[in-house]
Formats: sequence, C-alpha cells, structure tokens
Amino acid sequence: MTDIKTYAPSFRLDGRVALVTGASRGIGFGLAHALAEVGARVAVCARDERALASLEADIPGSFAVAMDASRVESIQAAVARVEEHFGTIDILVNNAGLGANHPALEVSEQDWDEMMNVNLKGSFFCAQAVARGMVQRGYGRIVNMSSQASVVGIVDHAVYCASKGGINQLTRVMALEWSKHGVTVNAVAPTFIYTPGTAERLDDPDYRENVLRRIPARQIGDISDVAGAVIYLASDAAKLVTGSLLVVDGGWTAQ
Ligand SMILES: NC(=O)c1ccc[n+]([C@@H]2O[C@H](COP(=O)([O-])OP(=O)(O)OC[C@H]3O[C@@H](n4cnc5c(N)ncnc54)[C@H](O)[C@@H]3O)[C@@H](O)[C@H]2O)c1
Repeated sequence: MTDIKTYAPSFRLDGRVALVTGASRGIGFGLAHALAEVGARVAVCARDERALASLEADIPGSFAVAMDASRVESIQAAVARVEEHFGTIDILVNNAGLGANHPALEVSEQDWDEMMNVNLKGSFFCAQAVARGMVQRGYGRIVNMSSQASVVGIVDHAVYCASKGGINQLTRVMALEWSKHGVTVNAVAPTFIYTPGTAERLDDPDYRENVLRRIPARQIGDISDVAGAVIYLASDAAKLVTGSLLVVDGGWTAQ
C-alpha cells in the first residue's frame, strides 16, 4: 500500500490567537472578521473605547482591548491584557494607520509626528511588544500593513510614503532577527482599497478614474483581497516566507 501524502497546505488558523490593531473599522475590522472565519481567536484592539463592546459582539469569540497605537505605554498594556486573556499571541496584524496627506510644502511638524507615530513608531513597538512572547514561545507570525505607496511615490503623500517605506525596512530587519526563533515577519502592500478612510476620495469620480487608470487590473481593491494575503502569511502555508512584501495592487507597481 502506498502512503498517501498531501502536498496542499492548510490555510486554517484553528487554535491560533491573533491580535489586530486598528480593528474598529475598515481593513482592520475586516481582517479581524476574516481571521475569526478561518478559526482564529481574535483580540481586536481599537483606540476608540466606545467601539470595544460592539466589536466583541460583531466578531465571534473576540476579546476587545483599548490601544492607542501611537503610545508605547498603551501598546504594552494592551498586549499584556491580551496575553493574560488568551495565554498567548500567535499572530500580530499591525494594521492601525493614518492616511491623511498634504503637498510636501504644506506638511507641518504636527502632521509628520501624528502620522509617523501611528504608522511607523506604533507598528515597531507593537511588533516588539508581541515578539517578546513569540520569541520565548518559539512561534509567531507578524504581518505589517504596508502599502503600494511604500515602493512608488504618490503625489501629496510624502509622509505616508515615507512611513510605509519604513515599514518595509522594519519588516526585513525584524525577519532577520526573529526568524531563527520561529517568528516570521512579512508585509502586505495593497493598492487603493475602498474603506471609510478612502471612501471620500474614491467617491469622487475624477479621483477614482485617475486611480483606476494606474491599476492594470482596472479594479479598486476590497478588504477580502487584503484578507487573502494576510491569512496566507499568518498560516502554516507560509512558514518559510519571511522578510517579504506581498503586493496586492492589481499590477500598479509592476509598471
Ligand atoms: N484603504 C487603502 O486604500 C489602503 C491601502 C494601502 C494600505 N492601507 C493601510 O491599511 C491600514 C488600514 O487602512 P484603512 O483604509 O482601513 O483606514 P481607516 O482609516 O478606515 O482605518 C484605520 C484604523 O486605524 C485606526 N487608528 C488610527 N490611529 C490609531 C491610533 N493612534 N491607535 C489605534 N488605532 C488607530 C483607526 O481608528 C481605524 O480603525 C492602514 O495602515 C493603511 O495605511 C490602506
């Protein structure tokens, strides 16, 4: 009798605990939902404490915790609460982010600090706080939310592009340092995704057409496009993938 070996890896996350930052709306909310749908127990972190109760009701089996991703103290306290509640964190999705932008000549110091504090500093310290436990336990999957704007310039997005380019470099270095401990670190780089953060711009027909013209697939992304990439990178199917940037951009950056 021949042994039947399967070559198809599993994308299920049963038994895993995932922490998603910026989960109150948009991509973060959708990712938290999607991770629960494939079996993970999810800690949903949000800055807005009023959102916490409804988040737990909306996402089966979830645990909602307040976290201001721009403040290291708040990040560390939230991570400790999640570890206490679930006993572990196997997956981190570093999603919280700001997208407001200005022409480079008009960027103030405050604009710079607000965006960098959430997008870059927050992502770094959240990964650091979660990775301490992951390294000790010898297992972890970290997925950082980058953007196509990390590899191409976008007019009026100087600070955003810089913050996401920084995410790509953090991803590589954290991967180099932690992969020997069973912790993979990767980033996902979506094109424009329709969310509350982009709806106003994408509802403007001229803006939308200008965006579509640059996407060879001629499609604005939706949250499930990002979820596919995140679930893959969080799963055992991607155990040998680390330090990579998975672009989900309909071909924008291939040009
Ligand atoms: N929507 C897109 O087109 C797109 C494309 C590429 C990358 N991204 C990235 O995806 C992520 C989510 O984007 P989105 O479109 O869902 O945005 P969104 O504005 O709809 O949601 C952003 C989330 O981050 C949270 N957040 C902001 N500041 C925070 C803070 N200090 N502490 C905790 N949470 C905070 C918000 O409360 C919200 O839940 C961001 O990192 C963004 O840069 C979005």
